[in-house]
Amino acid sequence: MGETGSLLTKLECRACCSQIDATRLVGTCPTCGHTLFAVYDLARLDWQRWKDARSGRDRSLWRYRELLPVGRTEAIVSLGEGGSPIVSMGPVPEAPGLEVALKDDGGLPTGSFKARGMAVAVSRARELGASALFVPSAGNAGVALAAYSARAGLPARIYLPERTPTGLRAACAQYGAEVTGVPGTIREAGEAARRAEAGRGSFDVSTLREPYRVEGKKTMGLEIFEQTYPESFPDAIVYPTGGGTGLVGMSKAFAELAAIGALDRTPRLYSVQPAGCAPVVRALAEGAARVAPWPDPSTVAPGLLVPAPFASERVLEAVRTSRGGGVTVTDEEIVGAMRALARRHGISAAPEGAATYAALPHLVQQGAIRDGERVLLYNTGTGLGFSPDDLERSIRG
Ligand SMILES: Cc1ncc(COP(=O)(O)O)c(C=O)c1O
Ligand SMILES: [Zn+2]
Repeated sequence: MGETGSLLTKLECRACCSQIDATRLVGTCPTCGHTLFAVYDLARLDWQRWKDARSGRDRSLWRYRELLPVGRTEAIVSLGEGGSPIVSMGPVPEAPGLEVALKDDGGLPTGSFKARGMAVAVSRARELGASALFVPSAGNAGVALAAYSARAGLPARIYLPERTPTGLRAACAQYGAEVTGVPGTIREAGEAARRAEAGRGSFDVSTLREPYRVEGKKTMGLEIFEQTYPESFPDAIVYPTGGGTGLVGMSKAFAELAAIGALDRTPRLYSVQPAGCAPVVRALAEGAARVAPWPDPSTVAPGLLVPAPFASERVLEAVRTSRGGGVTVTDEEIVGAMRALARRHGISAAPEGAATYAALPHLVQQGAIRDGERVLLYNTGTGLGFSPDDLERSIRG
């Protein structure tokens, strides 16, 4: 027990350049309301020595603790999250010229990559004295918050769109969280949550409205680097985008690794969204600085039903600085990809993760990804609990 060795120095707002004391429990920038980001003293991290130190650690994301915000080891709330496999898929029939691999977060605690962000956010919130936590969620973030809060001994309240799959709702309740159903999408759930929680002294862990979930998501990029660099480091990463934290997190990982001299190139990031809710892809195509809300959103992928992501400037910036882009897929293509991944490759993917596979032929057709390139698909969650047949009926229905 003792110090983690975290090199966290402060928080900063990239919109107004405010600098904030990182030992305070804060959500968004007190000056302008935008997202706050953790800043580390990277000059103190010697790349070779850090590599050697990590080699003796277990494979959970806490192996990167110098670049995570938690200061005391006893504050860490962990279920062993992180360290997910990268599965080679070789050439796939939908895109025969590419070398395709898939990073599979379906086996993480609570069944999705949301465990990464919540493990770090709950640990840090508890360390800084939070007494209760809440989140609006499409489902997976709620399940992860419920599990980590239970383990931390903190009450959690989850606000879910009424149409959230019943399995996800039941999982939140199973961990003892208080669950409230809200008509509409995550946008309305977020508004209802902030209204209901005002004045209750609880801490909001909504996507990019506190500084630390994105630090947990950053470990997706740190792991991709550690597992593949340099021989099989991807030219492109294809990522299913809802709120966009994953893209922002991976972009931050590659920027920090570049700053310590660990890598000399970064993968292009491609955002995949469903045709029925694609505000990020549209803003990328239009060259807009931020997204406009998507009217009448609909999709079979609940985590991608985010019509107006908060901090969209940061999401667009992550894609653009990587020289990547965006692509949409239909719900039919998502369901087809779930079946292809399961039957051809033995991979159980959530609809969100399957969307990345569905995107492959489009990205090739667009000329975004060229023959011979290495492409990494990010499967963000398990497909267990989803039935492609039921999803297909709901599309026709
Ligand atoms: C399985 C799954 N994939 C992807 C996403 C979207 O994640 P992000 O906020 O990183 O864009 C979600 C969000 O709910 C999700 O549950
Ligand atoms: Zn600011």
